[in-house]
Amino acid sequence: MNFENEMQSRVDAINQLLKCYLPEQEGLQKTVLEAMSYSVDVGGKRLRPMFMQETYRMFGGTDSIVEPFMAAMEMIHTYSLVHDDLPAMDNDMYRRGKLTTHAVYGEAMGILTGDALLNCAFETVAKAFDMAMQREQETEDKTRACEVYRRIMRAYRTLAVRAGIFGMIGGQVVDVESDAKDAKPISREKLDFIYELKTGALLEASMEIGAILAGASEEELAVISEIASKVGLAFQIQDDILDVTSTLEVLGKPIGSDEKNNKSTYVTFEGLDKSRADVKRLSEEAVSQLDGLGRECTFLRELILFLIHRIK
Ligand code: IPE
Ligand code: IPE
Ligand code: MG
Ligand code: MG
Ligand code: MG
Repeated sequence: MNFENEMQSRVDAINQLLKCYLPEQEGLQKTVLEAMSYSVDVGGKRLRPMFMQETYRMFGGTDSIVEPFMAAMEMIHTYSLVHDDLPAMDNDMYRRGKLTTHAVYGEAMGILTGDALLNCAFETVAKAFDMAMQREQETEDKTRACEVYRRIMRAYRTLAVRAGIFGMIGGQVVDVESDAKDAKPISREKLDFIYELKTGALLEASMEIGAILAGASEEELAVISEIASKVGLAFQIQDDILDVTSTLEVLGKPIGSDEKNNKSTYVTFEGLDKSRADVKRLSEEAVSQLDGLGRECTFLRELILFLIHRIK
């Protein structure tokens, strides 16, 4: 199978997983349930759950215990996009090739849909504990069960922290403050801070959770964090490049969003050529650190290199 087919089969499996974990669209709160499903539905690249699963596999993980974490990560990522598109934030009308959630369901429902997805993520992750409990009953292996609970707890904390004030939300806060009409131009240090948090944090959490659940060593986990941080930075730089060079049809979201919002980006600091070169450099550095771990990771390696030239 070639890389793109391999990738598509992973996307299909993740979409299936999300279907299983999203609640049925029924009851008096049906509108928000529909809007959650609308927001998560096809169109997303599903990179974060993909990175999580591949890292889990790389460190020898085989259990389905990673699955609720994969679904939860995509729910949190999607909520961050739903809120990012709101009129009070980037005020964008298209996402994943269709109208944004607030454009279809209204602003109040857009806010609530984001909230609901965030909450649903933690309801979903709680299911990993149920799965672990079931394994414990089946195997009666208390020592193993204790180790699995410990890993789930740590992965749970990683998800919570990396999505929060010291992670994604923190990055969005500084991003929003920096593009206010009366804001002073931001420094390069501040831009790095924003990227590390608003985009890096969830990618880091994805790979870290995969490593933690599979039982990677502390040294391996530290290397994984460094790799993911580089991948995250390269990913946001490429996002900035595409905001200037792509089209709505290809990208599935409006181009020129950064300029419209008076945002300083990596491209405004460094120009297109240097930005492209840095995406390549950071990704190649990440791959060489990955190789240094000496684990089987063919797909993960190709995925990082593929993202250098991504067009959406
Ligand atoms: C978009 O993320 C937001 C950024 C962090 C740049 P993706 O480009 O992964 O969005 P989807 O999930 O594929 O829609
Ligand atoms: C947003 O960055 C990152 C998030 C945490 C959602 P952008 O505002 O550049 O993302 P896009 O371009 O709208 O996807
Ligand atoms: Mg934004
Ligand atoms: Mg945006
Ligand atoms: Mg962008």
